[in-house]
Amino acid sequence: MDQLIIKGGVPLYGSVVISGAKNAALPLIAATLLAPGLHTLHNVPDLRDTRTMLKLLEILGAQWERTGTTIRINNDRLTGVEAPYDLVKTMRASVLVLGPLLARSGFAKVSLPGGCAIGARPINYHLKGFEQLGVTTRLEQGYVEGIVEGRMRGGTVYFDIPSVTGTENVLMASVMAKGKTVIKNAAKEPEVGNLIDMLFAMGAEIEGKGTDRLIVQGVDQLQATESTIIPDRIETGTYMIAVAATGGSVTITNCNPSHLPALTEKLLLCGVDIATTEDTVTVSCPDVAGRSICPLQSVDITTLPYPGFPTDLQAQFMALMIQAEGTAIIHETIFENRFMHVAELKRMGADITIEGSRAIVRGIGRGKLCGAPVMATDLRASASLVIAGLAASGTTQISRIYHLERGYETMVEKLQGLGAQVAKVKE
Ligand code: EPZ
Repeated sequence: MDQLIIKGGVPLYGSVVISGAKNAALPLIAATLLAPGLHTLHNVPDLRDTRTMLKLLEILGAQWERTGTTIRINNDRLTGVEAPYDLVKTMRASVLVLGPLLARSGFAKVSLPGGCAIGARPINYHLKGFEQLGVTTRLEQGYVEGIVEGRMRGGTVYFDIPSVTGTENVLMASVMAKGKTVIKNAAKEPEVGNLIDMLFAMGAEIEGKGTDRLIVQGVDQLQATESTIIPDRIETGTYMIAVAATGGSVTITNCNPSHLPALTEKLLLCGVDIATTEDTVTVSCPDVAGRSICPLQSVDITTLPYPGFPTDLQAQFMALMIQAEGTAIIHETIFENRFMHVAELKRMGADITIEGSRAIVRGIGRGKLCGAPVMATDLRASASLVIAGLAASGTTQISRIYHLERGYETMVEKLQGLGAQVAKVKE
């Protein structure tokens, strides 16, 4: 297996281009199943997870080709309606084919995604939503089957928790249902908005984009179309935090700063400078009082559904807070086991205590973290370890970096472009 070797303590300077959003590409690739014909998606990142989703579409009978960041998908002939276990177990977002398959062919069979490192991650809200639309679901030998007698019918779906992929799945199931569907307490993440834009372009009738109440008037059929994936706000936030952690000044381009309201506020409170334009954000740590880089203030965060602080940036922000001058409380409210990075950060000298869903981070100030061999456990935890390694003195080896490659396109090259001393080697 590959590992990353990072020689830390080097401030980052320069500019970095953000790729398309993983968590928008996955539902939009799945949404192409809703209509036959040639679909075109621009700004699709080339990641382990997007390759997995395209593999799944191939299994279902789709044909696709990539030219740069454009993917063309032909869904004229769907030959299958089953997402197999050995593929779903590598990527839970495979469940996103349930909604479009039910809408298009009235039947779907998807292996139940097991839990993952960060939590049990059930899909009960997805299934309850489908049932409100006239789908009969049943669990059989680790697979969930959905069957529609005749045509799906519109209904009212209420999400106890504003599930992101739950909202996306039910939305895709409802667009060709007979009649009106109202989705209440829907997720408002920008990736849901990106999906709504694509469905609208395909001929769907959806009101309420950006709100927690979506109203869908079912149509008889949809057309293949051309869409563009939005910039990845979590990748953007990861690089913003990395600059704050190492010092320096970096302009992040091809991004959408308006998708990161909570992180921006929190970084300003930490004491870094942030300047934005419509599609760039520049983060810098001004020299103060003769010190080479600004000291960091400890700032509390609570992860919440959008537009609250994203749970997908919690681990990265923790890697920043371990170098602050004070104590920060990090409250993780979305997933029940998203502190896997804590033990690894403590191996580098961090002072963190976990109390239930809260991590108490006692800052040790800049320049005190020591490089060490650490192990990635999940996608965002691995990003946290990269940030800590970049800021630490000495060398950090990060193993199991396949986690990182699920969600960060060419991260080693992007960091090298900012002056980081990082390389990927065979373990
Ligand atoms: C999406 O996952 C993202 N993945 C996750 O990003 C992200 O962390 C999460 O939303 C929260 O923002 C994609 O979009 C592909 P949820 P999702 O359903 O949809 C519980 C990353 O690092 N829940 O919004 O699976 C669930 O257990 C990944 O890129 C149920 O109980 O998350 C969690 O506690 C990680 N039953 C909470 O709701 C359900 O049926 C929010 O989960 C569904 C969810």
